[in-house]
Amino acid sequence: MRVRKAVIPAAGFGTRFLPATKAVPKEMLPLVDRPIIQYAVEEAVASGIEQIIIVIASGRSAIEEHFDSHPALERWLEDRGQIELLRAVRRITEVGTIAFVHQKEQLGLGHAVLMAKELVGDEPFAVMLPDDVMLNPGGTPVTGQLIEQYSAHRGSVIALHRVSREDTSRYGIVAPLREEHRLVEIGDLVEKPPPDEAPSDLAVLGRYILSPKIFDKLETTQRGAGGEIQLTDALRALAREQPVFGYRFEGVRHDAGTRLGWLKANVALSLESDEADEFRAYVRSLDLRD
Ligand code: G1P
Repeated sequence: MRVRKAVIPAAGFGTRFLPATKAVPKEMLPLVDRPIIQYAVEEAVASGIEQIIIVIASGRSAIEEHFDSHPALERWLEDRGQIELLRAVRRITEVGTIAFVHQKEQLGLGHAVLMAKELVGDEPFAVMLPDDVMLNPGGTPVTGQLIEQYSAHRGSVIALHRVSREDTSRYGIVAPLREEHRLVEIGDLVEKPPPDEAPSDLAVLGRYILSPKIFDKLETTQRGAGGEIQLTDALRALAREQPVFGYRFEGVRHDAGTRLGWLKANVALSLESDEADEFRAYVRSLDLRD
């Protein structure tokens, strides 16, 4: 079955970015010229996804407004001949269907994904965590790579990346059964294990292609690490019944979910932007000695 839908959870409090995220959702913070979440939406579209389901916190409308049309702004830009900007603004609303579902209580990533159950229905779907900005310029987008693996192996597929041992406590970590080149057959998963308990150095990054069976698992998943309903715990239950694969994707991941990661992502993306030459000259001019 084709993967047509993607769920993008965007309902957290963004505590790492407070007070910036008191009124503005973290996913709306800019990375160079667009909000963080737009990178995930563009990746979804480039991967052939037709319907995007964004899970937002109740009472927060900035993300919905961002993907909605804005006739007054468009007219204003048109009247002034700002055609490039007009195109950029219109492009946002031309990404296919976007549906929004509300998460009333912040009970964790697994719970956020469960909110999309009715809209996803009985078909495989992608989950894309917008904090992980995945870029593979000139190549297949990361979600597209996972979809290819899903089609080839008929099992759920999770994006994996090797991390240093001291970082295992920041990620879901998998216990591999077998590894063949980039493909990993997963036996078990643990959410944020301390380094001495981590079953490997293969970390889950925020891209998944999931069998709809995950919803049954999420419905019975108890609160886990951090007191939250974890997607990793539901995947662990799924892996006991169905094949779950990991794929060491090709491409670069920027962690826009921490302050330092967000700053680094802005620098890296600025060095690839239209203003790269000027920005590079500025960085070179800085006195970077201690
Ligand atoms: C989530 C997942 C974790 C995964 C990570 C990737 O954690 O729970 O398994 O490794 O995303 O970014 P979070 O960063 O939301 O705490």
